[in-house]
Amino acid sequence: MEILRDADIDSSPLEGKRIAILGYGNQGRAQALNLKDSGIDVVVGLRGGSGSTIEAEAAGLETALLEDAVGSADVVMMLAPDEVHQALYAEIEPRLREGAALGFSHGLSVRFGFVEPRADLDVFLIGPKGPGTALRSLYQQGKGMIALWAVEQDGTGNARKIALAYGQAIGTGRAGLMASSFAEEAEADLFNEQAVVWGGVPELLAAGFETLVAGGISPEVAYLECVGELKLIAELIEARGIAGMREAISNTAELGATVGGRRIVDDSVRSRMAEVLAEVRAGRFAEELRDEEAKGYPRLEAARQEARGALVERVFERLRALS
Ligand SMILES: NC(=O)c1ccc[n+]([C@@H]2O[C@H](COP(=O)([O-])OP(=O)(O)OC[C@H]3O[C@@H](n4cnc5c(N)ncnc54)[C@H](OP(=O)(O)O)[C@@H]3O)[C@@H](O)[C@H]2O)c1
Repeated sequence: MEILRDADIDSSPLEGKRIAILGYGNQGRAQALNLKDSGIDVVVGLRGGSGSTIEAEAAGLETALLEDAVGSADVVMMLAPDEVHQALYAEIEPRLREGAALGFSHGLSVRFGFVEPRADLDVFLIGPKGPGTALRSLYQQGKGMIALWAVEQDGTGNARKIALAYGQAIGTGRAGLMASSFAEEAEADLFNEQAVVWGGVPELLAAGFETLVAGGISPEVAYLECVGELKLIAELIEARGIAGMREAISNTAELGATVGGRRIVDDSVRSRMAEVLAEVRAGRFAEELRDEEAKGYPRLEAARQEARGALVERVFERLRALS
């Protein structure tokens, strides 16, 4: 695995270039501000009447309508939600300059065919491995966030250099830029979201909480045990790795983890994980995402309401009020 850092990267491919950031959400805001602080000429492209215009301008950024921002830029970064990339690309393609670079922070829309970029374009990925808020705060502390990078299409012969210079300008070269591909980044990311950190872990916490409450344990104790300790293990794993985490806990906890972990995450779980990966690769989830957007996000709205109404949330609110 090739990992590049600032010292390996030439910043000159972005000198005198103008970058349009499309979208001023989680990533758009962080990347636009980091680029500006790195001395890059940046414009934020927004929809007409966008509520983000005032916020971006208050942060000292230039803003323009999407089509004007795209038409004025050498590099265009797609930082609107993935599920709108297809329509957004169709809208901006006529305004993309010949030989411009088109960047993404997630491989999904290219990997699953939502966007089929024009042949003259350089198409690259800089996918920071964390939220925009952290990308921005790390940059401000003089640090960086690890990112994956890839080139999908090299229309001008400069795509690699532009991708790496972009990654450096948003601060990811301070931590490390790992070579990947649109397919690898998209598949691994979608798999993790469903099966591990964002899908699997919260369900495991809720199931543990509900099991203890059903077994007569008070909701507060169940919450402290099953949900409240997550931060502790996350910090231990971040600092020491999984093996180091196990060595840092009591023998009682370590034996419990050894006996119970494989019993809960058994072969049936592994086989469903393999199913999730196969479905992701077949594009099934990408289609579901596109369908969800087209219908106005009914499944997301229902899931949010259900989560807000759960007992575990009321216990969370009660305990949060104590701290
Ligand atoms: N969230 C993360 O931290 C994270 C991490 C790694 C990679 N990524 C990737 O980064 C990209 C952006 O994700 P995000 O979470 O930052 O998105 P987001 O916060 O949901 O993006 C919101 C922004 O997109 C604009 N937008 C929404 N629909 C639009 C449309 N139809 N046309 C034009 N602009 C539109 C919004 O405009 P208004 O201001 O007008 O509402 C807003 O400025 C995605 O590819 C995502 O996978 C995100």
